[in-house]
Amino acid sequence: MPTCCTEAPRPVIAVREYARRRRQLMHLAGDDAIVIVPAAPERIRNNDAPYPYRQDSDFHYLCGFPEPDAVLALLPGRTQAETILFCRERDPSREVWDGPRIGPDGAVDQCGLDDAFPIDDIDDILPGLIEGRSRVYYHFGRDSDFDLKLIGWIKRVQTLRGPLARAPHEFVALSHLLHDLRLYKSKDELALMRQAAAIAAEGHRRAMRAARPGLYEHQVEAELLHAFRNAGAVPSYEPIVGGGTNACVLHYRANNALLRDGDLLLIDAGAEFACYASDITRTFPVNGRFSAEQRALYEIVLAAQDAAIAQARPGRPWTAPHEAAVEVIARGLCELGLVAGAPAAAIASGAYKRFFPHKTGHWLGLDVHDVGDYRVDGEPRELEPGMVMTVEPGIYIAPDAADIEPRWRGIGIRIEDDIAVTRTAPELLTFGVPRTVEEIESHMSTARS
Ligand code: GLY
Ligand code: MN
Ligand code: MN
Repeated sequence: MPTCCTEAPRPVIAVREYARRRRQLMHLAGDDAIVIVPAAPERIRNNDAPYPYRQDSDFHYLCGFPEPDAVLALLPGRTQAETILFCRERDPSREVWDGPRIGPDGAVDQCGLDDAFPIDDIDDILPGLIEGRSRVYYHFGRDSDFDLKLIGWIKRVQTLRGPLARAPHEFVALSHLLHDLRLYKSKDELALMRQAAAIAAEGHRRAMRAARPGLYEHQVEAELLHAFRNAGAVPSYEPIVGGGTNACVLHYRANNALLRDGDLLLIDAGAEFACYASDITRTFPVNGRFSAEQRALYEIVLAAQDAAIAQARPGRPWTAPHEAAVEVIARGLCELGLVAGAPAAAIASGAYKRFFPHKTGHWLGLDVHDVGDYRVDGEPRELEPGMVMTVEPGIYIAPDAADIEPRWRGIGIRIEDDIAVTRTAPELLTFGVPRTVEEIESHMSTARS
């Protein structure tokens, strides 16, 4: 029997929440606008074998409809129907091959839309809906095939009515309005994100228990995948499972090397549950015991993460966690003699970046690197309740750093957790994964006894 996360009732986004999101977006877009959002196209891997289908996050956010070949049109203020979906019709002969389709009638019920039509009728219907709207909100340039279709529908408005045509004259990027809404997570979204985090946490615990010298990285990856699929989730990005010096490759993905006694293993892997992402990194010794050098660097990254998480509070600038992490890491590197001079100088000159080259986090939500502006009017955005971010400092000493004592070379460490900003203390979504040196060594030794 599956043991993780399948016994509790599965959290869901209620139909009324999708309706609320559409209303909010329509209110921001205004009564003379039309909003057009296509579903993600199905992508072919080779011949007739498709890649696993993942709905477009914006489309999903606005209606929760799970199929390809669909287009959502929002028409604020329209009296007959403000929210309209075009989707595939039911088709028993296709459904024998591909499984059931929801169909237009089902979509109206299931997604709480005002109306739905067959996608094959969109060329006849959509130009009439566009007519009279002065602004089109759409993701221009994201899908060139769909861009061309949209241009065709707008031209059609003109040919339909000739000189009397009232075709839109403003074309506005949809991302600004929509992605600002997505940045603030609702209660139900947070429930799903806790679930995604719990599943990833179980994957990391399992991987940590299984790791040992002589295994290959992909065999540890298999433990993560087992936990994810067991709980009905998929990876939210390609897992990074990097032993030894592979941990210093920030986007390492080969996951095919042998794990060696004395090396660290860095695992950066998250689960996606009901389209919501989690994102966790742990770094631990393959043999279950940190060496003195590994431990010294690990303690710095851990302290940096603690300091960064403490900054994830409302009213603080989005950059505050990174600045706190930089301060701890620069101090630690200077104390160990890995960076010359005083910490303040290392920060001012950026000398620490050689070992900590990335930022400390990113928004998290339907996408692992989620949407939402990081700056507002040129200033770092202030954190507010409902925002979810990762906190992921690291130190990486390149294996060929000739000016660094050999005992430090090739060590790569990152620790990453997911944090929800609340009115009060930050909420750690990814709790329960061994994080301190003692917790990790104890978890691994229990697995070995
Ligand atoms: N795994 C991608 C990231 O940590 O940002
Ligand atoms: Mn990550
Ligand atoms: Mn991340």
